[in-house]
Amino acid sequence: MALRVVGSSVQRKEVFAKVTGLAEYVDDVRLPGMIHGLTIRSTVARGRIREIAFEPGVPWDEFVIVTARDIPGKNIVSLINDDQPYLAEEFVNHLHEPVLLLAHGDKDLLRKARGLVRIEYDPLPAIFQLEDATEVMKSYQITKGDVDSVWAQAAFIVDGEYSTGAQEHVYIETNGMVATYDAEAGVTVRGSLQCPFYLQKALMTLFGLPAGKIRIIQQETGGAFGGKEEYPSMIAGHAALLAWKAGRPVKLVYDREEDMAATTKRHPSRTRHRTAVDSEGRLLAMDIEFTIDGGAYTTLSAVVLSRGTIHAAGPYRCDNIRVRSSALTTNTPPHGAFRGFGAPQSLFALERQMDRVARAAGLSPEELRRRNLLHTGDTSSTGQTMQQPLDLEGLQRRALDAAGFDEKVERFARENRTSARKRGIGFATFMHGAGFTGSGERYLQSVVRLETTAEGKVRILASMTEMGQGTNTVLTQIAAESLGTEYSQVEMARPDTALVPNSGPTVASRTSMIVGKLVEKAAAELKKALPLPCDYSPAEFGECVRQHYASDGAVSAEAHYQEPPGVHWDDANYRGDAYGAYSWATYVAEVTVDTATGEVQVDDFTALQEIGRVLNPVLASGQIEGGVIQGLGWALYENVQWKDGGMVNNQMTNYVIPTSMDVPRMKVLFEEVPYEHGAMGAKGIGELPMDGPAPAVLNAVENALGIDFFHLPLLPEEVLSALGHVG
Ligand code: MOS
Repeated sequence: MALRVVGSSVQRKEVFAKVTGLAEYVDDVRLPGMIHGLTIRSTVARGRIREIAFEPGVPWDEFVIVTARDIPGKNIVSLINDDQPYLAEEFVNHLHEPVLLLAHGDKDLLRKARGLVRIEYDPLPAIFQLEDATEVMKSYQITKGDVDSVWAQAAFIVDGEYSTGAQEHVYIETNGMVATYDAEAGVTVRGSLQCPFYLQKALMTLFGLPAGKIRIIQQETGGAFGGKEEYPSMIAGHAALLAWKAGRPVKLVYDREEDMAATTKRHPSRTRHRTAVDSEGRLLAMDIEFTIDGGAYTTLSAVVLSRGTIHAAGPYRCDNIRVRSSALTTNTPPHGAFRGFGAPQSLFALERQMDRVARAAGLSPEELRRRNLLHTGDTSSTGQTMQQPLDLEGLQRRALDAAGFDEKVERFARENRTSARKRGIGFATFMHGAGFTGSGERYLQSVVRLETTAEGKVRILASMTEMGQGTNTVLTQIAAESLGTEYSQVEMARPDTALVPNSGPTVASRTSMIVGKLVEKAAAELKKALPLPCDYSPAEFGECVRQHYASDGAVSAEAHYQEPPGVHWDDANYRGDAYGAYSWATYVAEVTVDTATGEVQVDDFTALQEIGRVLNPVLASGQIEGGVIQGLGWALYENVQWKDGGMVNNQMTNYVIPTSMDVPRMKVLFEEVPYEHGAMGAKGIGELPMDGPAPAVLNAVENALGIDFFHLPLLPEEVLSALGHVG
């Protein structure tokens, strides 16, 4: 049956609310009696709190003050390792660590009070960078074959060390929460967030209350990119503690400076490669060491590390692979979830390394990869057998053709001889696994519910959050398609832990593929429960739902996640099926490097990806375009500057992100090989554009200048110094 709704670029579900300003973001929420909250943070990176004093200058008796001693349950942001307190007790372990909370109805007075809280510390030695870190937060090892047995047979061995800096999410809307407390109902928090049930779990621990007394409601959310995955549990807890102590609603919204300085960023990383190839350029061994800076507390670092580790050997066939990885503790604010989750870091290193291996072996970057890309039936680094049809050489070639690669390589080399503006073209071929890693989806036990309404519509109840990426639209399309009704006849319930089942967190490209599939299944169940004629039109569907509702009330149907058959994952040894499915891509970047200024300009970008099924062409292209720009920012501009363990350029005036002037011409191309366990064949899409741009750009810069760069961001200063200009 031809698809009607899925595959077309229907209007974004919440478009009217957003363009008219009706959409209610957290800072728009106003509740009777509401006051404002503020977080007092540590001013040292590590130390013992000696004394807290409240200097005169404000009427302190009017303020609500919360310290660690007030906490009714456990002073732990419950997530994985439970090592992070909501409020520091005796010690602080990073700059900007929350120490106490204030609330007052007058924002100006609140700001004044901030300067009057004096906290004295006995400073302790602190560690600020990966090179100095020794404490291992988490480590993994992947072993396939035996790398050490083949070094002696290698025709070429190539070593490389690559590093990447932190990256700030710069979502348009900063973090914020509004909390209320009621002895009967318990805690209710409304806010900007990705994962309502993460917050519920964390607040249950914080307050020692059951799930029924912690309610989390998502407000319209203005971007997240992973930055509203774990940190909102902290802010929600703070707002709720203040509301509980004040007996009034409390709003706690961060301004940009606080959001940038205090919340999570992408993990800085260092990757070492030693690669052996035979005289034909075939991979004999890949020995990889991947290290990330976790910051002061574990948060999601273990999971980010896992993803980076699994993607470290990329889409290549090699019998001998060793990946040793670790997340190390430093005294900076914890690094956390960010689009790509560790894979952009390890794939950047890999795809730079592959270009260097090609040169060592005397092959073109394309040919080296062509000889080593995975085929159906090959095994990945974890020993996963590739079951789906794979044609990575073809995918790579089609991307290069679309970019005019061969002609440009030749032309740029000729033109560069007589120009101070050097042009270059480079690419990266890579993959990204969709959904939770390993057994993750099985443990999540996700549930989706559909229910009929009196108007003849169907409502989707799920915990999936819209943050601009199109959750509402895509899940609605899938439901309308599966039910045989119109797109306009399906509505999305607002994610509210009191009303929707737990469909898991909105992360890891699991929304369309995994949860969309549950929507499909629930739709099939719902149809069985309705007295539908065997062949019906969308109008007849609506009429049937309406009549049935009038006589028998609402009908609902649920779908529960079931792991596809034949998936095996050994978490202890990191062996087996790391993901149900991967999306595959080749990205090509074309650059001009100004040898007078060191500036790298990306002129043209081609992004070709195989993502199973394109559910909504405009949204899919939009994700790729936006993600590529974010990836270019990480590659060329975004430079978090640290001092004493904190970000010092925490403003949009001096943290440089790409603007529309920096956006290259872009071609976004899709290929579809439907994945049977993904909704309508869909796999993941969101991370690819974060993975590919950086290595493609630095490979293009090498093509332009003949100089290898190993670190992100690649700033003009570094280019100039490599060109021999004395700065
Ligand atoms: Mo998360 S980085 O939004 O998967």
